[in-house]
Order: sequence, then structure tokens, then C-alpha cells
Amino acid sequence: MAKTYLIIGASSGIGFQIAKTLSEDGNIVYAVARKERELSTLSNTTFVPFNVVSDESFSLDLDSLDGFAYCPGTINLKPFHRLSKDDFLSDFNVNVLGSISILQSILPALKRGSNPSIVFFSTVAVSQGMGFHSSIAASKGAVEGLTKSLAAEFAPIIRVNCIAPSITDTSLAERLLSSEEKKLASGKKHPIQRVGNVEDMANMAQFLLSEKSGWITGQVLSVDGGMSSVRML
Ligand SMILES: NC(=O)c1ccc[n+]([C@@H]2O[C@H](COP(=O)([O-])OP(=O)(O)OC[C@H]3O[C@@H](n4cnc5c(N)ncnc54)[C@H](OP(=O)(O)O)[C@@H]3O)[C@@H](O)[C@H]2O)c1
Repeated sequence: MAKTYLIIGASSGIGFQIAKTLSEDGNIVYAVARKERELSTLSNTTFVPFNVVSDESFSLDLDSLDGFAYCPGTINLKPFHRLSKDDFLSDFNVNVLGSISILQSILPALKRGSNPSIVFFSTVAVSQGMGFHSSIAASKGAVEGLTKSLAAEFAPIIRVNCIAPSITDTSLAERLLSSEEKKLASGKKHPIQRVGNVEDMANMAQFLLSEKSGWITGQVLSVDGGMSSVRML
């Protein structure tokens, strides 16, 4: 049976792939971003323009909602001494606060959903200390805390999980993967010897949003080519 999903940050990268996968499976998708981009090519998909940082109140008139994924993120890599308070605040706004009022506004609809599920995105740089990642790691650490806290608060009705990717080939990582040489070099740092792609992430998100993951909540799932747990010889 078709389900109804709300995907925030659905116009590009991982969020777009999640929206595409869900819509191709015949589900109804509400897709939020600032720009529509290729979303008009997806079936069963309604574009909802919204800026998670500057727009005030989010509203979507839905009787029930079966799943929610929050995908906006940042990669603001700088030495700690060059990071301003505004850098930290800006990362926190996009990665953490942007999700709060949206989630609060759709919570009643989610509670009425069928096996409802929430998916957040963190980064491998929370479990693995990485130089120049202090701002994004601080924000995504908060996302992981939010995941566990909400999983406890919303159980047993709504499941809440988080995906922690390593570097994935999207526009967000464009600067780090701007040539084949950079992609190969970055891939070689991973036990699986390649960087991530949007399908790797969307497959996990689709699983977590589905009833197939019905006994999984409060987890941070590493989708990172082994980066966080395997040491290469
Ligand atoms: N790519 C990686 O290497 C990597 C690694 C670790 C973690 N992650 C995490 O994975 C998640 C997805 O990343 P991605 O690579 O798919 O990013 P992406 O390609 O930059 O896509 C981000 C999406 O969020 C939307 N968005 C950004 N700012 C927004 C705002 N203020 N209001 C509304 N929508 C906004 C963008 O659309 P508009 O610009 O049209 O608004 C876009 O649809 C993020 O949380 C990221 O931190 C990614």
C-alpha cells in the first residue's frame, strides 16, 4: 500500500535520491527545498518550497504521515582557530534547528501514520575525530543526541534513526571530489575503496523508513565504506 513521506532537502543529492526511490515505489512524496530543480520529473511528488533557516512556520495539511527524512547539511571544513561563532551557529541552524519546527508541526500527522519513522543524517566525523571538522562534528553530534532522545520520547509509536555517511558524491562534497584523482584518493581511504554514492544512502534511508526496520530505533547507522570501524593494514 502506498505510504506518505515528507523529505526535507529533497531537491538534490541524497534527499533527491530518497524522494526518487520512494516515488518510484508508488508512494506519495512531499519534497521540501528552496529550489525545485529536477523534482518536477518525479511522479507522485509535490514540491513544497521552504527555507529551513530563514522561513518561519512550516505547515502541511496532512491527515497522516508515515515517514520523515531531514537531509539539509553543510561541509564547512576549517582549522579551529579560523572558525567564528557565526560558522558554528550557521552549521547548527542548517543541521539541527532547521528540523525542529518542521518536525513539531508534522508530529500529530506522524503519530497517526502507519509504523511511522524519522531519519536524520549525521557524519562519520562524529565517531571518528577528523581535523578541520570541529563545527560540523559539533552540529552532527547534536543530531545524534536528538535522534536518541526523540527515539526514547516517541517510542513505541514513532521510530527515530540516523545515518552517518562518509564522503558521498553529491554537490555538497563537490569541492572535495572535483576530479577523478580526488575521488580515487578519497576512495582509497575507505576499506571498501570508493567514496559513497547517493544510492548507498537512499537504500539505507528507504529501509529505515519502511516496516522492514520495524524493530530498529535510536540507532546511528554507519554507511561509510567501513571507515568508522575497520582499520586497513
Ligand atoms: N555528501 C557528503 O559527503 C556527506 C557526508 C557526510 C554527511 N552528509 C550529510 O548527508 C545529508 C545530505 O547531504 P547531500 O550531500 O545530499 O547534500 P546536498 O546535495 O547539498 O543536498 C542538500 C539538500 O538540502 C536542501 N537545502 C539546503 N539548505 C536548505 C535550506 N536552507 N532550506 C531548505 N532546503 C535546503 C538543498 O536544496 P536547495 O539548495 O534547493 O534548498 C538540497 O536539496 C546532509 O545532512 C549532509 O550533512 C553528506
